[in-house]
Amino acid sequence: MSDTNLVILGATGDLTQRLLMPALYRLHQSGYTRDLKITGYAIEDWSKEHFRDHIQEALRTFVSDDKIEDKHQTEFCAGLDYITGSLEAGQMKEIGRRVKGSILFYLALPPPLFGAAAVALGEAGLAQTTEGWRRLVIEKPFGTDLASAEMLRKQIHSQWAEENVLRIDHFLGKETTQNLMVFRFANRFLEPLWNSAHIAQVQISCPETLGVEHRAAYYDHAGALRDMLQNHLMQLFCLTAMEPPSSWDAEVLRDHKVEVLRAVVPFNEHTVCNRVARGQYTAGSIDSKNVPAYRQESGIPVNSNTETFAALRFEINNWRWQGVPFYLRSGKRMASDYSEIAIQFRQVPDALPDGSAAPNNWMIFRLQPQESLNLVATAKKPGMEFATHTVVLTAPYAQEGVREFSAYEQLLMDAINGNCSHFLRFDEVEWSWRLLDPVLHAWRTGSPEEYASGSEGPPSQNQLLTAGHSWRPVQ
Ligand code: BG6
Repeated sequence: MSDTNLVILGATGDLTQRLLMPALYRLHQSGYTRDLKITGYAIEDWSKEHFRDHIQEALRTFVSDDKIEDKHQTEFCAGLDYITGSLEAGQMKEIGRRVKGSILFYLALPPPLFGAAAVALGEAGLAQTTEGWRRLVIEKPFGTDLASAEMLRKQIHSQWAEENVLRIDHFLGKETTQNLMVFRFANRFLEPLWNSAHIAQVQISCPETLGVEHRAAYYDHAGALRDMLQNHLMQLFCLTAMEPPSSWDAEVLRDHKVEVLRAVVPFNEHTVCNRVARGQYTAGSIDSKNVPAYRQESGIPVNSNTETFAALRFEINNWRWQGVPFYLRSGKRMASDYSEIAIQFRQVPDALPDGSAAPNNWMIFRLQPQESLNLVATAKKPGMEFATHTVVLTAPYAQEGVREFSAYEQLLMDAINGNCSHFLRFDEVEWSWRLLDPVLHAWRTGSPEEYASGSEGPPSQNQLLTAGHSWRPVQ
């Protein structure tokens, strides 16, 4: 790779040190990005030596404090450059003077600055080039509702062509997410079962034990619906429900995801109440440690009505999925920490020796902590007695000796290579807000139900389930 640059705007911030630089360092160590030149850009009046020390400290914290690593990290940091500047086009021109060739701009900035930064880059003449390419990576959230997302789109498109805008959702870089597509579409045995004739329900869950941490300012304006459901969980939903694509082309994949969103039965003011639930954590205990209530967390207003748990039921009005509820839920400070897509198959009638029906099969894609595929099945219990029991067939995703790449590593490589398949196109964002705007509207009044930290979330989440369904226990 020659003459390829990454310029990180917001290079002194949290995202850069916690996620981007560790990922870039690991890619560099694995030999993927040896010729990539990385430049940090931020308002802090730092020398490049100061920036390098700052990043090296971050790598020690977030990668390893091993002595050998330390030497490699010093080498990596020695290649970093730094430019001081604001988000004004005049100041950004300095980037153009110092960095030549193809440039990937990464906006590691607070979300309210995305639009202004994208416009200023364009006004500084950096959105186009005759030597190589220019791309823009934007972190979520892409707006906070339909209207603000549309406004952000207009600002960005005033300077950037859509094909050069990469909206990142790190769940799309996770191994199991990418495996979901391969597993679904490359195996003959699955497709005949992947429809409402055989599938009873789908549960996409992402409970977390973490609280709001140091992100009060962002989180209290976002809440669980905007922070997790609108992006990460809805992406998993689309990948689970989409039709087989005719090719792996980025446009085809994204067209198919949009088709799913367009087929979701919209919420209206009557249905919104029985298809959604929200909660807020109170004090409790997690791993035997007492933790405070959300309203007691530093930086959170004592009367905050922000939801830290959100759940909803999607219904899809198409041939494949009519009558199959898709349940999505995520919450902070819950009993356990994992992400999974759990598919429940319909029951087999009278299948057991005593004439009763066998329990439903489940197919579970675990995204974390350990990425794996699990099949919950019924088998004969070993022994003389003709009895049955439930067995779980587990295929771990990781392979011994094969290094795993983080979601950020995967997506940064894709962005550098110009592969947009795992980035969001604007219409995906637009349709997700179209679906969720009525929920946001309904939640402007009232307050979330309380749930104790370390619990399974608020009881009202059960009300959105179709008769006969229950949430898989948080485990
Ligand atoms: C982020 C959310 O996008 O995803 C966080 O802002 C959440 O609130 C995180 O904790 C979960 O991602 P992961 O990869 O740590 O499960």
